[in-house]
Amino acid sequence: MKKIVFLTGAGISAESGIPTFRSAVNGIWENYPVEKVATHKAIVNNPDLVYKFCNELRNKYAGCLPNSAHKMIADLEKDYEVYVITQNIDNLHEQAGSSNVLHLHGEINKVRAVDDYNLLFDYTEDITPDTEIRGHKVRPHVVLFGENVPNIEIASKILCDADICVVIGTSFNVYPAAGLVSYVDIDNPIYYIDPDPAYTPDYPDIKVIKATATEGMKELIKILNGEQ
Ligand code: OAD
Repeated sequence: MKKIVFLTGAGISAESGIPTFRSAVNGIWENYPVEKVATHKAIVNNPDLVYKFCNELRNKYAGCLPNSAHKMIADLEKDYEVYVITQNIDNLHEQAGSSNVLHLHGEINKVRAVDDYNLLFDYTEDITPDTEIRGHKVRPHVVLFGENVPNIEIASKILCDADICVVIGTSFNVYPAAGLVSYVDIDNPIYYIDPDPAYTPDYPDIKVIKATATEGMKELIKILNGEQ
């Protein structure tokens, strides 16, 4: 089986009702000052606000369902070895049935022990900086700006021997995730599905499919099947 690796960003979940981060209308960072709710400095200096923001996000995402793009990716497992590397903190890829999902920026449905990065718990109720689970103070399991991205090395290894790479719905603004495409073998194709694709001069051979995730995935499948 050929190995196909999807790199997904907020855009893939837009049609599931989750706003992207940088959209001018309803973008998450339009409504919340990023430096106050999503930075390492913020969780140190004003943790209450960061925890409140994460509680709100988790509650907002709770009713969202995967859309047909998430499902089409999961269905490709019948014919390909499929990996998903996502910047998203929602669990819509898992809900759609994808087996190999690597989260670069954490998961909003989990909290982790403040004193042990690897000790995760399900995040089923709102938390505050005082919340303890099994004797551990906990924090949202999300990567804030200014924090390490521990899964980046695993992600780069997954991409090194990808036969096909497909990027969906990201603005290529946030590093190190935005640099991952450079690990794909230069002879192998990279597709980029986005209705408003970013300018990517570093990847001159990238094949842009200018469409929403759900429409673009239909096109991609035709291409994979040799119909286009
Ligand atoms: P952005 O909000 O920066 O970009 C979203 C992308 O999705 C844009 O390129 C849009 O054009 C595209 N888009 C919008 N609607 C779409 C649709 N229906 N189908 C496909 N694409 C669509 O989101 P990300 O690039 O994912 O990190 O942001 C990266 C990181 O920045 C996030 O993981 C988050 C944020 O700050 C952290 O919180 C650490």
